Amino acid sequence: MENLLDGRKISAEINAETAQRVSQLNARGISPCLVFVRVGEDPASRVYVGMKEKTAAKLGIISRTIVLPEETSQETLLSLIKDLNADPETHGILVQAPLPKQIDETIVYRSVLPNKDVDGFHPENVGKLMLGESSGFVPCTPAGVHELLRRSGKTIPGSHAVILGRGNIVGKPMAALLIQKADDANCTVTVCHSRTPNIAEICRTADILIAAMGVPEFVTGDMVKPGAIVIDVGVNRIEDPNAKNGARLVGDVAFEAVRTLAGKITPNPGGVGPMTIAMLMRNTAQAATPGRA
Ligand code: GUN
Repeated sequence: MENLLDGRKISAEINAETAQRVSQLNARGISPCLVFVRVGEDPASRVYVGMKEKTAAKLGIISRTIVLPEETSQETLLSLIKDLNADPETHGILVQAPLPKQIDETIVYRSVLPNKDVDGFHPENVGKLMLGESSGFVPCTPAGVHELLRRSGKTIPGSHAVILGRGNIVGKPMAALLIQKADDANCTVTVCHSRTPNIAEICRTADILIAAMGVPEFVTGDMVKPGAIVIDVGVNRIEDPNAKNGARLVGDVAFEAVRTLAGKITPNPGGVGPMTIAMLMRNTAQAATPGRA
């Protein structure tokens, strides 16, 4: 369908750009290297890290995954991160969330050196994003959504962007990106969350609607202005007795009902997911580039 905002296609274009950057780095004797740290055996995290490893290999980025047992102490994890921070051959460090409950994610993400923080979770990178300083790393999912919007062929400045969800990984940084004083932003941004009254009414005023609150098929046809750009960040597992293993994945958008109204819409899967991975690879190439601020 011609109104699909195809994350697979757009991510392939970005990955080709990144592969080229990697070969230029290789020619200068630099081998970009990304280290994944996984704690425990969360099945979704295994799948996600596996997909990221595969893309890295395709683009010529070296990757290494360190798996620690579920019962790992925070001290042990921090000590590993300290070693990786000091290792000149490690350019990017990604500690996959969620972490077991004995570990405080905030402390862990603060311990990653800001210039190896390809997730963009360190307060220094979060602060740079808020300030509009381009030298930091932007979290991969909102960066990927922004790139989808930039390459959608639609005009972004002046749009009313409505973001559903206020999390630190997607909602907040997404808002920061779109309110930026820049030709690829300049949006009026509204952030809605679980305590927002009249969400449906606000959504109907959106030119750009970004659903990232983790509620299965929350956005229905009656909440979308005809012609709006609709981006579905959600990945929700719901029970389905007819599915192979009794469950299936759905987004935050009721796709079939919304696709007929939307000016552009991301499929899910195949929308935001591949873009997130592409942004991680781009951040890693950036981390390996000498002289970056
Ligand atoms: N778990 C789910 N999304 C993410 C992400 O963007 N980064 C990390 N490190 N873990 C995640």
